[in-house]
Amino acid sequence: MILCQISDLHIKRKGALAYQRVDTADALRRCLRAVARLRPAPDAVVVTGDLVDMGDAQEYAHLREILAELAMPCYLLVGNHDHREALRQAFPEHAWLGREGFVQYAVDLGPCRLLALDTQDPPHSGGRLCAQRLQWLERELGREPAKPVILAMHHPPFVTGIGHMDRIGLPQEDRQGLAELVARHPQIERIVCGHLHRPIQRRFGASVVSTCPAPAHQVAFDLDPEAVPAFRLEPPSMQLHAWIDGEGLVSHQVVIEDYPGPYPFFESDGSLID
Ligand SMILES: [Fe+2]
Ligand SMILES: [Fe+2]
Repeated sequence: MILCQISDLHIKRKGALAYQRVDTADALRRCLRAVARLRPAPDAVVVTGDLVDMGDAQEYAHLREILAELAMPCYLLVGNHDHREALRQAFPEHAWLGREGFVQYAVDLGPCRLLALDTQDPPHSGGRLCAQRLQWLERELGREPAKPVILAMHHPPFVTGIGHMDRIGLPQEDRQGLAELVARHPQIERIVCGHLHRPIQRRFGASVVSTCPAPAHQVAFDLDPEAVPAFRLEPPSMQLHAWIDGEGLVSHQVVIEDYPGPYPFFESDGSLID
């Protein structure tokens, strides 16, 4: 089972650029072409929030048109830039989005389950994991306690050191609540997040938490707490989470654009290096 994670698409209305500079629709199309070239093909795609930029219906219609290229199931999460009802209206056939309230659901991926958590707290950019959401998660985990789980959410439950992003993260008490829950459920193999537009990993109790880079703009790497919020057009990337029997979940970062190669490893006499 291979789950492809992409995150923070920030799709605008047709013809509009994000921050007057970034063609996020073109970036997503390039990303989906890269997904289509993958062999073996991923079994499913999960998009960990910030699907669109302003949360309006025209942006979701644009997103829907682009995502139609995908040949495998695609599971959508909300981020702080999303709008729950506009998302549901744009994808009415996606019953797993639910009809009202938080956008949270469980998907069976074969050897493991995907649980999607809603960390949105409109109109704030920061997130929340209130008692109601954690109760839902605890109930879902109780349904199949022996089956490994990939927990997906937009806001990561840790301090990253990128000050302006941490200021729109999850509150300390909410992070603590999730940490206590994860400690009770060792089947949570991995927590995969978005929001940061960068790849970052951290231990989280007996689990591991990571954030995913974006197919378009990345948040500038700067650990100065007073750094000015900024983005860079660094290589767009996605993550591939592969379930390997006997190993567990093994995660790879894959750049989206084409680079020279692959070149086989040859010795100077032409023999293949082992
Ligand atoms: Fe984002
Ligand atoms: Fe975000």
